Amino acid sequence: MSAEPSLDTLLHQMRPRLEADLKLTLEALGGPQDGEMGAMIAYHMGWQEDRPAGGKRVRPVLSLLSCAAAGAPWEPALPLASAVELIHNFSLVHDDIQDQSATRRGRPTIWQRWGVAQAINVGDAIFVLARLAAHRLLQAGYDPAISLAAMRTLDHACLRLTVGQHLDLAFEQRSTVSEEEYLHMIEGKTAALISAATAAGALLAAGPQDWVEALRRFGLHLGLAFQITDDILGIWGSPQRTGKPACDDLLARKKTYPVLHGLRASPPFTRLWQQPQPQPEDLQQMRRLLELQVLGLRLGLLPQTGE
Ligand code: IPE
Ligand code: IPE
Ligand code: MG
Ligand code: MG
Repeated sequence: MSAEPSLDTLLHQMRPRLEADLKLTLEALGGPQDGEMGAMIAYHMGWQEDRPAGGKRVRPVLSLLSCAAAGAPWEPALPLASAVELIHNFSLVHDDIQDQSATRRGRPTIWQRWGVAQAINVGDAIFVLARLAAHRLLQAGYDPAISLAAMRTLDHACLRLTVGQHLDLAFEQRSTVSEEEYLHMIEGKTAALISAATAAGALLAAGPQDWVEALRRFGLHLGLAFQITDDILGIWGSPQRTGKPACDDLLARKKTYPVLHGLRASPPFTRLWQQPQPQPEDLQQMRRLLELQVLGLRLGLLPQTGE
């Protein structure tokens, strides 16, 4: 009996195959007559030969691992993995416009380099490329009903993601947001796609329904934790590691998880937060006040809920 490959071995095998499949999807765009379209997408995906800078590819790898975990070969599921990664990247291109973020993955964002109008168009094109990648599931030999079910899962996630993005932006204008509202918002903007990635991977394996449900829930909870971690990195992460400027989320008045807690339990933080134009030293002070609050919670000096 042959031993199961280790996670490291699987990841080592999956990553180059995924990258090749993603590039195959991009071939749907024509040649030189299409102007800079292909180049802008290649830039965002991190394929420019002079400066490679792609993303971590967390979501597509989760799709492939979910398919393998549910008992089927992962190789035919590559079009699903590409579709998931392309949906994520369409959302990032639009998110950087919405958040006015000038830097992603340590480089200027698409809108920063080519303008907002072109960036909207690039995001739209990546979204369509994601759908075209999903269509290739039929070519990979999956049953049409299973392929459609996987596509439906992804489409539902896109809708949830868009609503989540709407709420994220709407919360910037609100003075308070409850933890429940916050969790609903990040479930949409981040966890819905991660959950769809794991559920659709299991769907393609055509195993028992409870595997699909278990992996859907796993992806959902992982997605919530992923966004809360991203919120923490948005305040405390080193720009070298995150590829984004420090304290960006504080400046953008994002109702991130640490900020919710600051607004709920720290009057000095709330006073600084309410300043219309916080200066760099105010941002540093807000960060320190949030740290004090975390310390207070750890030492049991502050109530957990603040109610
Ligand atoms: C960034 O996601 C956006 C969030 C949902 C937090 P990732 O951290 O997975 O981004 P890349 O693709 O690796 O750059
Ligand atoms: C993450 O948005 C969710 C989507 C892009 C759909 P954020 O705005 O929280 O993520 P970063 O910090 O820009 O990557
Ligand atoms: Mg955002
Ligand atoms: Mg953002």
